Amino acid sequence: SPTPAFDLLLFGGTGDLAMRKLIPALWQADAAGQLHVDGRILALGRKPFDDDGYRAWLTAHARPLIAGDVDDAAWRRFLCRVRYLPLDARAPADFVALAGQLPIDEGRALVAYLATAPELFAPICENLAAVGLNHEHARVVLEKPLGRDLASANAINDAVLAHFAERQVYRIDHYLGKESVQNLMAIRFGNVLFEPLWRREWVEHVEITIAEDLGVEGRGEFYDRTGALRDMVQNHLLQLLCIVAMEPPANMGADAIRDEKLKVVSSLRRFRPRDVAARTVRGQYAAGSVRGQPVPAYRDEPDVAPDSRTETYVALIAEIDNWRWAGVPFYLRTGKRLAERVAEIVIHFRDVPHALLPSAAGCATANRLVIHLQPEENIRLHVLAKAPGDGMELQSAALELDFTQRFAARRADAYERLLLDAIRGNLALFMRRDEGVEAWRWVEPILAEWAADPTPPAPYPAGSWGPAAASRLLYQDRHAWHEEC
Ligand code: BG6
Repeated sequence: SPTPAFDLLLFGGTGDLAMRKLIPALWQADAAGQLHVDGRILALGRKPFDDDGYRAWLTAHARPLIAGDVDDAAWRRFLCRVRYLPLDARAPADFVALAGQLPIDEGRALVAYLATAPELFAPICENLAAVGLNHEHARVVLEKPLGRDLASANAINDAVLAHFAERQVYRIDHYLGKESVQNLMAIRFGNVLFEPLWRREWVEHVEITIAEDLGVEGRGEFYDRTGALRDMVQNHLLQLLCIVAMEPPANMGADAIRDEKLKVVSSLRRFRPRDVAARTVRGQYAAGSVRGQPVPAYRDEPDVAPDSRTETYVALIAEIDNWRWAGVPFYLRTGKRLAERVAEIVIHFRDVPHALLPSAAGCATANRLVIHLQPEENIRLHVLAKAPGDGMELQSAALELDFTQRFAARRADAYERLLLDAIRGNLALFMRRDEGVEAWRWVEPILAEWAADPTPPAPYPAGSWGPAAASRLLYQDRHAWHEEC
């Protein structure tokens, strides 16, 4: 059902995220009848557009990025919701003008989406509060990166929470908005089949991969001071790990879910200096070719330092020190310019206690549950069956559930889902402050060791599966990454 009436303030209205993700998501929500007729979008930015100028800009830049057909009349109707106000985020007077643009109606939801550089989060929140736009129906959505270490994340959180209560703060991790990630919770907590096996007695190890074939895509300046650990591991990969590893929450309320995720992050074993060398691998892509197309090395990308030591690839072994997972390694990896775009979780179960039947040559002997999150969305449960023929040999075969084929309904994009949740006031898929803080605590020793280590990240050819050291990392435990099995 549609949202309540709302005003959405889009800070960074002419930025990349607004153009690529937020406006297309709002359009899709509108086209699906999810937005209240009295839902208004006020975009804010430095560029001196008027309403019509901004709408024309959206038509030229955002509309072509929308998947599927966009009907002209429906697009014009959508644009009627959208207005633009030039604003300097550090100028209090501009916020007086902004408040003057909003209807005085106590009951309307007010969502301030900060799709800006994090340096602007504090001044924007302060300036909103100064004109009373932090009232009880107001919410603020914060885009990542929320800081670059524990101290800076704390400083941002303190500045925001000086003006907004925690229940008004929506920290986005768009991976939690993905249908496939929520489906993972449904699979775990909706079936009797998996949960009894979902523990150290039956699970041997877990792999979580987010591989990208893209490079830094014009974001060299940002990426070179960020790197894969901060860009992907501290947030997206750890959120996936939490959803795999958390205990069933008491209910599906925001705090019940976030309490359980927090317990997982707090139970992650901290890396000692010597563990960083033994249990993490960082890489950086060299020139290579992705799907037959030659691509340059990371260091030759625009706005990247020619001697950059920023990692574009990370693989590491995480361990969760709790009763359910003690002794089960979680292998995490992510990288840019890898062989393909794929996000997947592989649960490797233990071998049977006694092998009664022989396995066909080269056949994996244990059960595996492979959960593909993107681009395809499917689940494969690898089981052993009898190989056809006279003998009695086992062969691996997969039971498969393909979500796109099985369920015809349209799947909302992550940003669409999360924007609608923010407008409706549903915090369940947003991060609480303490989760982010614990995640930084876990990541910081790795950052510190890497910063002190003069060795550059291991080079890997663009289009490969990453540095050889990442294969060795698993090999030392007698394991191999999924595609190497
Ligand atoms: C973003 C990172 O948070 O996630 C990007 O900043 C990355 O570097 C992106 O490309 C990946 O998201 P998705 O949804 O395309 O897998």
